[in-house]
Amino acid sequence: MARPHGRMNSGEHRRVALVTGAARGIGAATVLELADRGWSVLAVDIASDDPALPYPMGSKSELVAVATEASSRVSRVGAVRPFVADVRDPEALRAAVAEAVDTWGGLDAAIAVAGVIAGGDPLWEMPIERERAVMDVCLGGVMNLARAAIPALLARPEPRTGRFLAVASAAATKGLPLLSAYCAAKAGVTGLIRALGAELGGTGVSANAVSPGSTDTEVLAETARIYHLPDAVRFGGQQPIGRLLAPAEIASVLAFLAGPDSSAMTGAVVPVDGGLAL
Ligand SMILES: NC(=O)c1ccc[n+]([C@@H]2O[C@H](COP(=O)([O-])OP(=O)(O)OC[C@H]3O[C@@H](n4cnc5c(N)ncnc54)[C@H](O)[C@@H]3O)[C@@H](O)[C@H]2O)c1
Repeated sequence: MARPHGRMNSGEHRRVALVTGAARGIGAATVLELADRGWSVLAVDIASDDPALPYPMGSKSELVAVATEASSRVSRVGAVRPFVADVRDPEALRAAVAEAVDTWGGLDAAIAVAGVIAGGDPLWEMPIERERAVMDVCLGGVMNLARAAIPALLARPEPRTGRFLAVASAAATKGLPLLSAYCAAKAGVTGLIRALGAELGGTGVSANAVSPGSTDTEVLAETARIYHLPDAVRFGGQQPIGRLLAPAEIASVLAFLAGPDSSAMTGAVVPVDGGLAL
């Protein structure tokens, strides 16, 4: 059963993943990690800014650069493709799933990484369009991906090893002031994953999540701005590990969960947080 880094045995098909939020941060690191492990990947991102949010999203050029770098690592041209879609748009995600299935013959893992943060006001004073952006991307986007992708995971022949994965947050279990919508959305993701784990029982397809701690990305930089801190480095001191996490450290756990070696897990929410939740 030992398969280094969950690599495929010869004779198994090359595994296919769809990753949202892929232009930068944890999503980009996940695309690169999966490519290193031999996967074909559709790298999905909105790749444009959201007028409801005061900080920039990933760009089209960042998304294309991630796909190009990942394709070069897997040494097959086109093994990782960029795809622009807003996770709030169920039709766009259906098109993304269809693109992956048409290109590579099926889907083995759908990984919902896309997320946004907004806050700075108590909930009752937060502009409603920011609350909606957080809920609709962080929770609605995960549900939309589940709706679009799980039928493709179930369409693989038995015995299946499909994986639906989501990125929650330490904010799912901590009450963070001025980030109430974000906490609510991330707690929603953990509830969703537990329910999907139960619903998918017996199918061979599993649902799991990771809950990252403070990770060095734009979401954390925006969190520092929300709390009027000069930079995000000090968040590292709140974690027993004593530093910020790197996106690649979250990606390696997601890649493990995506692979065959996570076969005993479903409905799990795995803290990858340097001990923040202790
Ligand atoms: N950085 C942290 O400390 C931390 C901690 C816990 C959880 N998270 C979660 O990790 C995930 C990845 O965030 P990150 O930290 O890498 O930040 P990031 O801002 O660098 O990456 C988020 C990516 O999602 C994309 N995106 C945003 N809205 C989208 C939409 N509607 N449709 C498609 N793509 C969209 C952005 O363009 C961006 O490329 C998020 O779900 C975030 O909530 C981050």
